[in-house]
Amino acid sequence: MLSREENDLITQTGPGTPGGDLFRRYWQPIGLSEELPEGGEPVSIKILSEELALFRDDTGKPGLMGLHCPHRAADLSYGRCEDGGLRCLYHGWLFDTAGNCIEQPGEPEGSGFKDKVKNTAYHCVEKVGIIFAYMGPGEAPLLPAFDFLNVPESHVYVTKYFNESNYLQANEGNIDPQHLSYLHKFVKDDPNRPSVAGSSTSSNAFFGQDVAPQIEVEETNYGIRIFSVRTPSEEEKYVRITNFIFPNASLFGGVHYHVPIDDTHHWKFRITFDVAEPVDKERMQAEDAKEIGPDYRHRRTEENRFMQDRSEMKNKSFIGMGPNFQVHDLWATNSEGPIQDRTKEQLGYTDKAITAARRQLLAAIRDMQEGNEPPYILRDPDENHFQHLLAINEVVPSSVDWMNLWKERMTS
Ligand code: FES
Ligand SMILES: [Fe+2]
Repeated sequence: MLSREENDLITQTGPGTPGGDLFRRYWQPIGLSEELPEGGEPVSIKILSEELALFRDDTGKPGLMGLHCPHRAADLSYGRCEDGGLRCLYHGWLFDTAGNCIEQPGEPEGSGFKDKVKNTAYHCVEKVGIIFAYMGPGEAPLLPAFDFLNVPESHVYVTKYFNESNYLQANEGNIDPQHLSYLHKFVKDDPNRPSVAGSSTSSNAFFGQDVAPQIEVEETNYGIRIFSVRTPSEEEKYVRITNFIFPNASLFGGVHYHVPIDDTHHWKFRITFDVAEPVDKERMQAEDAKEIGPDYRHRRTEENRFMQDRSEMKNKSFIGMGPNFQVHDLWATNSEGPIQDRTKEQLGYTDKAITAARRQLLAAIRDMQEGNEPPYILRDPDENHFQHLLAINEVVPSSVDWMNLWKERMTS
């Protein structure tokens, strides 16, 4: 349970809020490369409660700038991508990706006025089909060299989903290992569900056999490592390691980033990857197409009660909302309300990682309020290594020291 003040601190990310100041220090996914084809139109987006225009200049470089033209506020997302920037339709002012005004066709020649005008602009980089932006002050820190941001294009599937809730409750779903025994359960085991390394039994069966995993957490230099250990038999442990990546992502096999649009909506960016081999993008695309429209919005909504089918609950999915985990998580987190009221919750043992993550967020915000640097900001390339950030989903003999298993599984 949190106080009202604490809940506000970690859920509000608009400009000028303490949480907003914190979020602006970390690279955030803000769009997909596929939304911005070369030669295509700019798009109007909102991130961290700021209205922005995302575009590509005529060299293909992505740019992110204030939506409203600094001249008299026309919407730049309607503009023309030409002559090295984005040109406003109203009076033809032209802005480059750094926000410099490089042309003001109506001003007298040699006036120099354009050199005094700047639009808000944020540094962007593109990785694995996602455009990341740094929306904070000063020089951008290094983009973390996470494995999942450095795999070949064939090895990664990315997409995003619109979500009508605050970012935090959705990210808290990712770091809650016990809900796998209920929310995502299939009443009859589906033989197509992924099996687990070291066993032919499906993860679904393991989640059902032991619904009360032992949960441990440890702080790391990226956030929190979370251990959830189930005991299907005396001889075996089913070990999962998942991770909270500060301040709003998680790695549990795949990766989710929950990026605030405003305080009551967010984008969930999904990265499904394999370091060693190509992934089946077509299958994942087809699965998503059944549930999600081309505008990245789920067809199941509160208005249609998530199309819950109670007959399905007898022999298929536990919750009666089909097999797609994205839907299950959407229902659970949206149903908590636009911003979960954490002054009224009752946390238990299974919420250990959530408590630890909130503690990190609150400590970082308070530290920043006192003028200190927030944690995990990377400036030194020698420190930009994350081989110790990995997800584990494995059955091991009971004698194995599972708290240290990740050290053995590190590649280099
Ligand atoms: S409002 Fe954009 S150029 Fe005038
Ligand atoms: Fe989930």
